[in-house]
Amino acid sequence: MANYQILVAVCVCLCGAKLGAEGGRSEWTFVDYFKFGKEAYLANDWKNCDENFNLAIEDYRYYKQVVLRCKKVCRAESKEYAGTKSGGKEKYLEVFETFVNETLCLMRCKRKGFESDNSPITDCSFAQMTEYAKAADAAFTYHILHPNSDIMLSNIHYYINSPGVVKDNVINLENLKYTKYFMDAAQYYRDESWQQVIDNMEQVIPKYLESEEDCRFDCEKPFDMGWFPDFITSVANHFTFCLRCKLKCPGKLENLDGEVIEGLFPLTYHYLQIGYFKVGDLKSAAQCVESYLLFYPEDEDMTLNREYYQTKEGADPSWFQPWDEVVQYFNRLKHEKALLSRIDESFKEFESNPDFVESKALEAPKLDEKEEVIIVEDYKPTPPPMVKFEL
Ligand SMILES: *[C@@H]1O[C@H](CO)[C@@H](O)[C@H](O)[C@H]1NC(C)=O
Repeated sequence: MANYQILVAVCVCLCGAKLGAEGGRSEWTFVDYFKFGKEAYLANDWKNCDENFNLAIEDYRYYKQVVLRCKKVCRAESKEYAGTKSGGKEKYLEVFETFVNETLCLMRCKRKGFESDNSPITDCSFAQMTEYAKAADAAFTYHILHPNSDIMLSNIHYYINSPGVVKDNVINLENLKYTKYFMDAAQYYRDESWQQVIDNMEQVIPKYLESEEDCRFDCEKPFDMGWFPDFITSVANHFTFCLRCKLKCPGKLENLDGEVIEGLFPLTYHYLQIGYFKVGDLKSAAQCVESYLLFYPEDEDMTLNREYYQTKEGADPSWFQPWDEVVQYFNRLKHEKALLSRIDESFKEFESNPDFVESKALEAPKLDEKEEVIIVEDYKPTPPPMVKFEL
């Protein structure tokens, strides 16, 4: 029952997209499908329950996909405009004009997106496929998002032991684009297949960054402040709400099929440096060391690795630069975290004041915590901690 709880939450605030199979265009949105599914569930009508919940998920995914694409397109467009502006105009006005422009763009883009004919719902046989296998996938997906549900865990075990279900084929329906590459790379690491470690981890980086972009756009969502602040307060509140949400993205993306890999993004560079080292590409290894150290400048093992590489024959000071993509990523993170903590500081005194709803329950992003690192005695590059994946 993968997304149903999530759906409950979204159903309230989104009107949903009217779409359906081409040639049988449905009037229903995911909100309707969810309602039908729930009614069927309460009536023990499993076939309709399954069918409608699957349709709800499909429709919801489609809705999300269109909205996400529009957000990306319109952000790019308004940035382009903003870039070509000449000076003179007041900055303040310009910022809000950018918002107005982006809003118009989003409205147009969404309208076009939901009018289009390529709805993903083309095949209702989805609902009639191997039931146990599907149920196992759904239960597994739910378990990843809600790891504390014992009932779902026992459901998973039940489904896995059901006829026609192959344990290794159970998938997370909300799989992230880089999960497979990261897991494969970790396996190759254990097998000491260094070139494959490199090949797979190099795939992780752009795919991870893309997923984080998607996650950040998802954060630009409605926010019920619970009161009616005036304009500037409202904007500031909403901005803070979204910023806080965005800073939680790295944490969310560290959940690989239920296994939480803390500091996953920096860890990628940790794996890569050892891979490059093993295949003799010391320059790339050094760049990975520097990339990792951006996040954890105090890391002793990695500092020793740096010193080790520096002593290698032919080592050049120019090698010891982090990759550009990491620098950009890190700087944005740093600035955003700094801004958020300034905001939190300034609003501390208002903490008990309901006027600033979001200043309560402040949770700092987890990026300062780091992996336990295995201490090595000799000056060999430190391997990343072993990662074990099991269902
Ligand atoms: C908003 O859009 C209008 C019309 O396309 C354009 O002239 C204006 O420069 C844009 N403003 C900003 C701040 O991007």
